Amino acid sequence: MSDQSNIIIDVHMNNQDPTTVKNEIREGLLSTPKKIPTKYFYDDWGSTLFEQICELPEYYQTRTEHQLLKSVADEIVSQSGAEELVELGSGAATKTRVLLDAMARAKQLKFYVPFDVSEGIVRRVAQELVEEYEGLEVHGVVGDFLAHLEHIPDGGRRLVAILGGTVGNMGAEAGPAFLSSIYDEMDQGDFFLLGAQLITDIDRLEAAYNDSAGVTAAFNKNMLVVLKSVIGADFDQEAFEHVARFNQEKGRIEMHLRSVCDQVIPIPKLDLNLCLQEGEEILTEISMKFTRHQVEALLTRAGFSPVEWYTDPQELHGLALAKKR
Ligand code: AVJ
Repeated sequence: MSDQSNIIIDVHMNNQDPTTVKNEIREGLLSTPKKIPTKYFYDDWGSTLFEQICELPEYYQTRTEHQLLKSVADEIVSQSGAEELVELGSGAATKTRVLLDAMARAKQLKFYVPFDVSEGIVRRVAQELVEEYEGLEVHGVVGDFLAHLEHIPDGGRRLVAILGGTVGNMGAEAGPAFLSSIYDEMDQGDFFLLGAQLITDIDRLEAAYNDSAGVTAAFNKNMLVVLKSVIGADFDQEAFEHVARFNQEKGRIEMHLRSVCDQVIPIPKLDLNLCLQEGEEILTEISMKFTRHQVEALLTRAGFSPVEWYTDPQELHGLALAKKR
């Protein structure tokens, strides 16, 4: 049964001050090396492309986490006693259903809070889930979870989840700061589930970001389209190529848009002429790969007590369950 009264969606993205948006993009384009915040991948088309990435043969991450979650969801639900699932970076909520199913089996399912930057996807997922789970209330939040975390509604006993290696998109400073602010938003007794991609061999890692069908390249270049709508910059997609490689020292995949020629892109809204030399790269994403030790250190540093560690037989992906005591 579809019942609109079970859905609330708060949109905080539109309240984003245009000056803040401009400043953050401007700052990135003026820094060395140049960079653009990763969240600008994700308009509705970008989210669709990411869903396609998750189906690619080379992109093992999503499948691995999905399988792992299936085998441990019941245990996570009984350990946490959760009645409300809050998912930061919820996207299409495919893996979410594994947790919601487990909560429903335990007769504990009351609330789901999807939190994502893409309004289209939050609305779609909310609609689908109230139809799939009887009595479920969905309170979606559209926002930047680095800025709008305080908008997470209160419910019963909560399980806050960040799956899919979303935390790997954050740098060595932003990651810990982000986990601390999540910790602050949570109540004593709430549980936290953190997904993390683990370090494995370089060939496997690099192939996952250089798929043969070119979907990751299209996803990377979609940022140019998003920037056109956000700051009116007229990028030529043909003038850029997709680059992804593993940075051994920093333990992370880095994605770039590389300029294939010398070019000047006027961006009047930023009061800037963007000059790029042939071969020059703009950093668009970092994707950290962790060890178990690093994940648990991150959690502890934020104040959490690690409760359980789950991994697949090949140790490609980790799920850490932690608690706010
Ligand atoms: C959404 C951050 C988990 O880093 O693996 C996939 C994003 N970028 N292919 C990742 C991504 C290119 C993905 N995360």
